[in-house]
Amino acid sequence: MKDLLRSQDLSRADIELLLDTATDFAANPLRSNTALAHKSVAIYMTKPSTRTRLSAETAVAHLGGTPIFIRGDELQLGRGESIADTARIISGYCSALIIRTFAQSDVDELGANASIPVINALTDDDHPTQLLADWLTIRENFGKDISGRKFVYLGDGNNMSHAWLIMGAIMGAHVVTATPSGAWAPDLQIIEMAQKIAKQSGGKVEVLHDPEAAVKDASVLYTDVWMSMGDSEDLRERKIVALSPFAVTGKLMSLTQKDSVFMHCLPAHRGEEVEASVIDGANSIIWRQAYHRRTTIQALLYHLVRGDLKGSNQ
Ligand code: CP
Ligand code: NVA
Repeated sequence: MKDLLRSQDLSRADIELLLDTATDFAANPLRSNTALAHKSVAIYMTKPSTRTRLSAETAVAHLGGTPIFIRGDELQLGRGESIADTARIISGYCSALIIRTFAQSDVDELGANASIPVINALTDDDHPTQLLADWLTIRENFGKDISGRKFVYLGDGNNMSHAWLIMGAIMGAHVVTATPSGAWAPDLQIIEMAQKIAKQSGGKVEVLHDPEAAVKDASVLYTDVWMSMGDSEDLRERKIVALSPFAVTGKLMSLTQKDSVFMHCLPAHRGEEVEASVIDGANSIIWRQAYHRRTTIQALLYHLVRGDLKGSNQ
């Protein structure tokens, strides 16, 4: 496996290896502080980022390398140089490329034309590095045995909902999305892919539209912003009305298991997708989740550059 372009690129064994290494990096951040010595990693972002940018830059620094952050308007790509040419050029200088942008097809094209590892740091369709941090946080909280547990994502059927379904299916988990039906449901292709993966992994995928039924006896309630980067402002009012029943409230939390936790990839909008009492309450594990963005990106860079990951053939 050269790149992490989509969540389904990873096998369960790859994810387990990455989570083990990330656990080591949490205990000893400088364990491999020469792995990227005298090497550089390009981090190119055409959308804003707090966690992913900082965790990627610090991860590279912890591995002894130099991060090169490039804003969307800073490359000749914006003046018509092709993605393929850009990929070849960056491959000549850097040991990996981390990219956050709109179209998944741009990330795929970079991966196809770069000779170095390309990592998807969020597109309109997917957010695989976030899910690595999420699964490490889930493992830290519940241990490795997740049988009988239900993991529920509520809200917009967006990039996060896709990554949630696919990565949960790979992990053999019982994953659920609770979203409106229609425009703000997860993409059908992703649902079908997750169901296919779950068949092989022993997981279970449920795509529901009733929030109370979905959260019953859940171990995790997860949500994301209702307006994603790049969403049309013209749709805001209509979207918020449609998503309101899926807000994570104290009432929904009370329908879950006794040891359930609340998760959010952040940034959060208290009073929209989640009540302040939930996200700031005793069962919220959002800060540990955010912390693990660095440990997991560090593990991903470490293993991808070494060529340790096998990939999934999905
Ligand atoms: N969760 C996440 O990707 O955060 P940023 O947008 O701040 O990177
Ligand atoms: N769905 C959100 C995730 C932010 C981490 C977005 O794409 O803006």
